[in-house]
Amino acid sequence: MEFDLVIRGGTVVTAADVGRSDIGVKDGRIAALADNLPRAASEIDASGLLVLPGGIDSHVHFDQPMGPGIVMADGFESGTRSAAAGGNTTVLSFALQPRGQSLRQSVEDYHKKAKGQSYVDYGFHLIVTDPTPAVLGQELPALVSSGYPSFKVFMTYDDLVLTDRQLLEVFSVAREHGALVMVHAEGYDQIKFMTDRLEREGKTHSYYHAESRPELVEREATHRAISHAELIGIPIMIVHVSGREAMEQIQWARGRGMKIYAETCPQYLVLTADDLKGLNMDMSGAKYVCSPPPRDRASQDAIWRGLEGGVFQTFSSDHCPFRFDDEAGKNHPKARTSFRWVPNGIPGVAARLPILFSEGVAKGRITLSEFVALTSTNHAKMYGLYPRKGSIMIGADADIVLWDADKKVRLTQDLMQHGSDYTPYEGMEVTGWPVKTLLRGELVADDGRIVGKPGYGQFLPRETTRRLEPAARS
Ligand code: URP
Ligand code: ZN
Ligand code: ZN
Repeated sequence: MEFDLVIRGGTVVTAADVGRSDIGVKDGRIAALADNLPRAASEIDASGLLVLPGGIDSHVHFDQPMGPGIVMADGFESGTRSAAAGGNTTVLSFALQPRGQSLRQSVEDYHKKAKGQSYVDYGFHLIVTDPTPAVLGQELPALVSSGYPSFKVFMTYDDLVLTDRQLLEVFSVAREHGALVMVHAEGYDQIKFMTDRLEREGKTHSYYHAESRPELVEREATHRAISHAELIGIPIMIVHVSGREAMEQIQWARGRGMKIYAETCPQYLVLTADDLKGLNMDMSGAKYVCSPPPRDRASQDAIWRGLEGGVFQTFSSDHCPFRFDDEAGKNHPKARTSFRWVPNGIPGVAARLPILFSEGVAKGRITLSEFVALTSTNHAKMYGLYPRKGSIMIGADADIVLWDADKKVRLTQDLMQHGSDYTPYEGMEVTGWPVKTLLRGELVADDGRIVGKPGYGQFLPRETTRRLEPAARS
């Protein structure tokens, strides 16, 4: 066979194996894995580099409607540019249903936002905020079977929270139609109570965001979500787990034989609640406000044990970007009066892979294959993209990142290429860096330069099948 491209001499890493192989690419797909492939029209010398499946970030927020006066800092153009710069070839973003609007309409709106804008392939999870009889009876079933087999539900936030009854209704639809529910597990009433009390005490600085939602708030909601899942009889995915207490609930449920999946994120490995203090409790603490909040060093250690021991299937960024020096972002006039009003979320889609590689692989905490599973393969399997995405195997899309395992880089705002005006990881030294990112055989990022075109990224309808078996006890 004549290949369009041969990637020669690299060390190929999959979730199962690590070994030397050339890769032959034909029509955007991997057509051969072998030594000494014949010369092709185009060649990339990967000697000395790792050859990994392109990163799949299954938890990003782009262009999401926010409260009055707040604007998310990334749409699909800048968000996927940042994703490509960080070694990702697929993102799963959220199509949020504003209350009072049909879910189908929300999905159509997101298609318009993404069309012609994306540097990498993309799909949508649904965010269900208004589970009316029409949504539960018609829209969700139709959307699940037409390429959107995952939805997120919230147990907090005024505009998003579902009651327990509504959670049960959504879970029932997921069971009937084979969808996966992603749960934001923090309890609304506990947070409201704490927020009111902290404000009464004059504790309004961004730091108190962390005190308003301690780990037990996440633990209680995780347990409640698990109980609802048990009642209905479905697997669920607990997203952005921040520490030991929620992990214990997940492990407890698995010990009972339940399929409870879990995701964690970079902020829970390298940030702590003290970052929310900023410089002497100034406004810069708002740069780190996200939910659940980063915790402490002991929680970071617990999350590492969870990554090493199989508690987590996916490592995602929860990229949810706002500008800092901007009244439409973290410096919204109301946000300066209380942490209650600081938009929740931080950027991270470009930093996710370097942080996990550096802190995990380079420091000997996880293996190369575990890194690939946590950042690519498991995302594809969980969310219905496997085997087209998430691995280096014959027939898969040639979504490949060439990775320099020894390259030392200091993370800076410039390198992130996102729409935010800061990175929460500024100044962090990492070892390991994506030097070339290829999507379906085409170079999209080359040593930090974006060489792809917005619009080359395609929408990916997804299937409901092929989940993982989470470790029963870890
Ligand atoms: O603070 C965060 N994580 N905001 C993003 C929305 C979410 O809950 O994932
Ligand atoms: Zn969430
Ligand atoms: Zn999120």
